[in-house]
Amino acid sequence: MKRKKCYIVFGAAIVLAAAAVTAVFVDRYYKSLEKSEILKIGVLVYKEDDTFVGGIVDEIKRQGKEYEREMEGRFRLDFSYAEENQSIQNEQIDKYLSLDYDVLCVNLVDRTEAAIVIEKAKAADVPVVFFNREPVPEDLQQWDKLYYVGADARESAVLEGLLVVDYYKKYPERLDKNQDGVIQYVLLEGEIRHQDSLIRTEYSIQTLVNAGLSLERLDGGIANWVRSQAEALTAQWLKEYGSDIELIISNNDDMALGAIDAIEDWYISFSNIVGIDGTPKGLEAVESGKMIGTIVTGQEDYARVILDLAKRMAAGISLDGLDIREDKSIRIPMYSINSDGEIRRLEEEGKEEN
Ligand code: GAL
Repeated sequence: MKRKKCYIVFGAAIVLAAAAVTAVFVDRYYKSLEKSEILKIGVLVYKEDDTFVGGIVDEIKRQGKEYEREMEGRFRLDFSYAEENQSIQNEQIDKYLSLDYDVLCVNLVDRTEAAIVIEKAKAADVPVVFFNREPVPEDLQQWDKLYYVGADARESAVLEGLLVVDYYKKYPERLDKNQDGVIQYVLLEGEIRHQDSLIRTEYSIQTLVNAGLSLERLDGGIANWVRSQAEALTAQWLKEYGSDIELIISNNDDMALGAIDAIEDWYISFSNIVGIDGTPKGLEAVESGKMIGTIVTGQEDYARVILDLAKRMAAGISLDGLDIREDKSIRIPMYSINSDGEIRRLEEEGKEEN
């Protein structure tokens, strides 16, 4: 077991070292450009007021600005928001392509409509880094200059389920309030066609079932990642099921916060809520004991990986050293954190088991 671990650590060190070496090439390449030559990257975002995606985009802006300064203007980023309308995003793509942008980073509005975006980019020979809203695998295979950066939805769901399992083991009476041996729950779901909603809903529940918990679903509903929509749904459920609700499982933190808003409106004390994202407000709610826990996907890491891929592709530099999977994706690491401050990573547990 020791030996295997050693290989893993050594392997990771090689990957990091390779990444560092190529990062030097990337910088050197940009510095070698004529001052008048600018490599331009367009970042297209599905809407402006999504908390989690907004956090990633803010980081891309921050890191991008730094790089723009370091490269004395030979590198530049521009941003567009699509108001949740794929036709608007398609027009924005046309605009960037007509202005000879070198790479596009696309947070699709409709992940099932990637083919149109790919067709346009391929015709103009402009590489695309999709992020957060994952195209279907067949679309990503259509061309070799397409990649996806995102978090593994299944991993986040399993970690979310384990937050509940661990909590139940520690405090069974806090979760199974009526002591009937069954956990009565409600579930807040994200957008209907988003990969994260479908997978998180399925695997969070599956993880509870696998751990031997008996469950009863009282209700569930789609709140599209949005706090106010989740607040409205939870208020309805509180009216209908009252104290029968023992657990609220949410596909993300903003909807978990919406559930907390409803609970606070009712002046009841209830904190059996789990979320995903690790947004600043989500983490605050966990720290102050208003939620059992959340799953943190580092927005800084997310932004760095997107930019790294985009910078290299804009310069035509090798992607060696980047942790690209066979499905052409790079997955951002994540961990769970609970209100007792305990942290858990699945990746490490997998290594331990080896
Ligand atoms: C999910 C995230 C949600 C929302 C969504 C937008 O990964 O958990 O909070 O940001 O992406 O695509």
